Amino acid sequence: AAVELGPFRHFMQKEIFEQPRALGDTVDGIDSFEPALFGERAASVFGEIDSILILACGTSYYSGCTAKYWLEAIARIPTQVEVASEYRYRTTVPNPRALVVVISQSGETADTLAALRHAQSLGHKHTLAVCNVGTSAMVRETELCMLTRAGTEIGVASTKAFTTQLAALYILTMTLAKQRGMLSADDEAKGIAQLRHVPSALHAVLALEPQIIAWSEEFARKENALFLGRGMHYPIALEGALKLKEISYIHAEAYPAGELKHGPLALVTDQMPVVTVAPNDVLLEKLKSNIQEVRARGGQLYVFADADTEIQSSDGIHVIRMPEHYGPLSPLLHVVPLQLLAYHTACARGTDVDKPRNLAKSVTVE
Ligand code: G6P
Repeated sequence: AAVELGPFRHFMQKEIFEQPRALGDTVDGIDSFEPALFGERAASVFGEIDSILILACGTSYYSGCTAKYWLEAIARIPTQVEVASEYRYRTTVPNPRALVVVISQSGETADTLAALRHAQSLGHKHTLAVCNVGTSAMVRETELCMLTRAGTEIGVASTKAFTTQLAALYILTMTLAKQRGMLSADDEAKGIAQLRHVPSALHAVLALEPQIIAWSEEFARKENALFLGRGMHYPIALEGALKLKEISYIHAEAYPAGELKHGPLALVTDQMPVVTVAPNDVLLEKLKSNIQEVRARGGQLYVFADADTEIQSSDGIHVIRMPEHYGPLSPLLHVVPLQLLAYHTACARGTDVDKPRNLAKSVTVE
């Protein structure tokens, strides 16, 4: 059936607003973290592996970067993430006990597919795909897989595919943690409850749209923006910057906030908007001092803060408060306002949001 726009202006906006449904479908029916979710052979494969090698491109690469934080902290499994086009052409040290994970919306991205085949040719026998298309080459060529249930994604800038990938990667993390004896029954129940809560948490985040539209009017007049995050929200800052450049053509860069003083601080003037992802985690106090460093140079801060975070709006510091504090799934919720900010900034600049210049939805040639 033809995919209709309904009340939305662009497919990207429709897909952003579909995320509660997409997430609900992706986690539907999961009431414990079982290897069988990834295929028949997963229990034995997961028992053999000693590390993970993630290969992906674009937005899918950033979901892999986020998953690295989960996999190492929760499942205690060493994880490496690499851009597929780099991996396929460099000399690496293959480890047959590593699980190679390819992440792809389409399952057809040429570089990711070639990286998978390259890994196999080096003797990597354990492979897993996180993919949105069940009939794709990547799903056919991997031993294990988890399908995301985002549904057809039309906007070139990926949104619902990203958040459903994060859910799948979180499920992978929890499954490995359980199999490795690192997840109590209590923590498993908590993890399931957190996943179940995501669709309603997403609805509440999407309700922030009017406040984000107000910010986007300021952003539309800028030519540069800086995005800051720390820890597992650093890849979310990267994804926010990628979304902004892809569709609004504003030059955007993301930095782990602790690196500010090693370069990007030189760029901060009163013309530089600095978007900050500020969840209420162990790094919050450090992030607050990063915010002060920017403020002292006249930079305009745009902060997405968790419900219980004591960062107040003041001169040069604009705060949008997220409805809750989300725990380990926080990256999945914090990326949504960044999608909306990029979307509305692009609309205000009048760009072709669903088909940005020079970009393709699926890059099937090198
Ligand atoms: C293109 C798209 C991106 C996407 C990337 C990887 O660059 O414009 O939105 O993230 O390809 O695509 P994949 O289908 O492998 O996730």
